[in-house]
Amino acid sequence: MLCIKNISKSFIQRGLVLNNLCIDVNEGDSIAIMGPSGSGKTTLMNIIGLLDKPDNGEITFRGASIANFNDDESAVYRNRNIGFVFQDHLLLPHLTVSENILLPLLAAKYSSDELALKEQHVIELMKKTGISDLADKYPFRISGGEAQRVALVRALANNPSILLADEPTGSLDAKNADILGELLLEMNREFGITLILATHSSDLAKKMTRILQLGEGKLIDLTHPPSGRGDEFRKCILE
Ligand SMILES: Nc1ncnc2c1ncn2[C@@H]1O[C@H](COP(=O)(O)OP(=O)(O)O)[C@@H](O)[C@H]1O
Ligand SMILES: [Mg+2]
Repeated sequence: MLCIKNISKSFIQRGLVLNNLCIDVNEGDSIAIMGPSGSGKTTLMNIIGLLDKPDNGEITFRGASIANFNDDESAVYRNRNIGFVFQDHLLLPHLTVSENILLPLLAAKYSSDELALKEQHVIELMKKTGISDLADKYPFRISGGEAQRVALVRALANNPSILLADEPTGSLDAKNADILGELLLEMNREFGITLILATHSSDLAKKMTRILQLGEGKLIDLTHPPSGRGDEFRKCILE
């Protein structure tokens, strides 16, 4: 589905962060990217989500090259295909919970029929994540765990095929982290959304089907390489 080949990225102040790394993501995968602080997890997630550009390398999505998209093309691609959840919920404080969730739908300029369908989907997601009762509240009136579930529903409102979550449980207590982790998995299993998350938490990572470890600019597959392409894949990540 998503093929990342020989991606490198450096920052002037820091030098090489991602060193010629590769990932092959299959439809419906759930992938944890682990690694110490500063190892480049966020840099990699931003590149996958086209929020940042690699210095070299190729990215293809369902067979089409996307690495050289300009800003407008990247924005369209993100809007259609990618949902983001970050460590901080980033809800807009002057909008209610439901307004925050519906904002990306309004930005996408759907017809009124399409919009009605998407709104129905949002209502279901709010029920599933237990936030229906919060619809008219402002973000400062809800808990951190609730806010992160709102951010998850907002990320899924447009029906993305990939959900990128960068330390989604990093600001949560153990109980809320567990609830969010289970919800992320449920979205992956039930809607077939491909889930890629960066996390420090091995409890969260263990729920995923693949665990990749980022270190010294390279990714090592701690679980197993995709079937049939084992040798090539291993060579690519270990070289
Ligand atoms: N925009 C940037 N400019 C300069 N250095 C950056 C930038 N973004 C990240 N870095 C550096 O790249 C390294 C990897 O950062 P990051 O991807 O945020 O790691 P992680 O998410 O694993 O903690 C860090 O040393 C960080 O300081
Ligand atoms: Mg980070």
